[in-house]
Amino acid sequence: MTKKPIKPSLQEVVEAEGHLIDSHIMEQIFDAVVQHNGRFEVQHFHIGKTNADPSRLRLRVEAPVREDLDKMLSTLLGLGCTPVDASDAVFSRVERDKCAPEDFYSTTNHRTLVRKGGEWLVVENQRMDALVVWADGKPWARRLRDIKAGDEVVVGMRGIRVIPESKERDRLSFAFMSNGISSERQVETAVRQTAAMVRQAKENGLKVVVVAGPVVVHTGGAKPLAALIRKGFVNALLAGNALGVHDSEAAIIGTSLGVRLSDGRLAEHGHRNHMRAINAIYHAGSIRGAVAQGKLKKGILYECVVNNVPFVLAGSLRDDGPLPDTITDMNEAQDAYAEQIRGAGLVLCLGSMLHSIATGNMLPGWVKTVCVDINPAVATKLSDRGTGQALGVVTDVGMFLELLEKNLQEAK
Ligand SMILES: NC(=O)c1ccc[n+]([C@@H]2O[C@H](COP(=O)([O-])OP(=O)(O)OC[C@H]3O[C@@H](n4cnc5c(N)ncnc54)[C@H](O)[C@@H]3O)[C@@H](O)[C@H]2O)c1
Repeated sequence: MTKKPIKPSLQEVVEAEGHLIDSHIMEQIFDAVVQHNGRFEVQHFHIGKTNADPSRLRLRVEAPVREDLDKMLSTLLGLGCTPVDASDAVFSRVERDKCAPEDFYSTTNHRTLVRKGGEWLVVENQRMDALVVWADGKPWARRLRDIKAGDEVVVGMRGIRVIPESKERDRLSFAFMSNGISSERQVETAVRQTAAMVRQAKENGLKVVVVAGPVVVHTGGAKPLAALIRKGFVNALLAGNALGVHDSEAAIIGTSLGVRLSDGRLAEHGHRNHMRAINAIYHAGSIRGAVAQGKLKKGILYECVVNNVPFVLAGSLRDDGPLPDTITDMNEAQDAYAEQIRGAGLVLCLGSMLHSIATGNMLPGWVKTVCVDINPAVATKLSDRGTGQALGVVTDVGMFLELLEKNLQEAK
């Protein structure tokens, strides 16, 4: 069978700049072209001579049909390739609230610039799965549900430049990792590196945000996490109802899911203990009220309250209670999470698939993330967000927290 000739119009010349080789971006660019039934020709390639020096690539790509070329360009854009004849970004007016033009540009979590009036401008509030809106003289990443009639949003792929993070250049954070996920035997190294990242974030005046699931309490991690909060290593805590419930149960009754934390034995009628804890918080009106009334005297949330560390408890369909502090409107809960991660330099995701992935989706790619989970799939999912800044640690979260607290304590 003879191959159809490729029409000359179905081609584009793109350019990319950055740590293209050691971040493996180059091979991803070539793969993307081939995957979309295309062909490429390297017109120019300059290799960065030092570890600070970026490489530069100019590539002509072509595809047999328009659909393939569009999909290819969209993938290439996410890998940092910009069409050479970049004109200004095209903006289109939104007709109805929450309804975007069909060809709207959907953001990645990488730093993004759009061109307007010949000038490249950095998109504010970068996050993935958002639109780019022009407001107050700047481009902003904004969620679909926040789009209003009359907004000007970017459509198509012209005049957009994406700058992917470079993975291996950040030697401090990821030097010991070959694939971004550490196994059990590397845990002590992972703890040391995490402690270094906590200290670095603090030194740079950036927030350390902890995302935690109830397994932190079940595995004995509440004590070291509470200590980290008390000692000022945590700037915000993001969790769900369950963390609040089991932390209160542990603090008020001394059990977690009915299991005595002192000796690991099942307490008599222990299954009702988490309900008794929820009841106690209801009597006090809120977590804060329970602290004020002396009902809650220790634990993760107690330390948050007394040290003025903001916490957000997001609701879910499986919640008991929920606690009066739990935000059951999911849009509101997402907003509250987004508010707390603003200004974050490091996010520690500890034993909660739901909240870790939810937080990961809100973060710009350059914020460092450490995900600790016993299930490698969760750590992989988070570090696969197309960022070089995520580190997965496959281990028991209680043990990890104990080691982390010890490490940060020793270094003080
Ligand atoms: N009583 C309640 O109200 C209640 C109880 C449980 C969960 N929930 C709610 O359900 C939702 C999901 O809960 P979730 O975040 O616990 O579940 P999840 O399934 O999203 O996450 C739990 C994670 O913990 C990991 N894990 C298990 N043991 C571990 C260990 N020893 N060390 C490290 N990681 C470990 C699992 O692999 C999993 O990824 C939340 O909103 C939560 O608040 C409510």
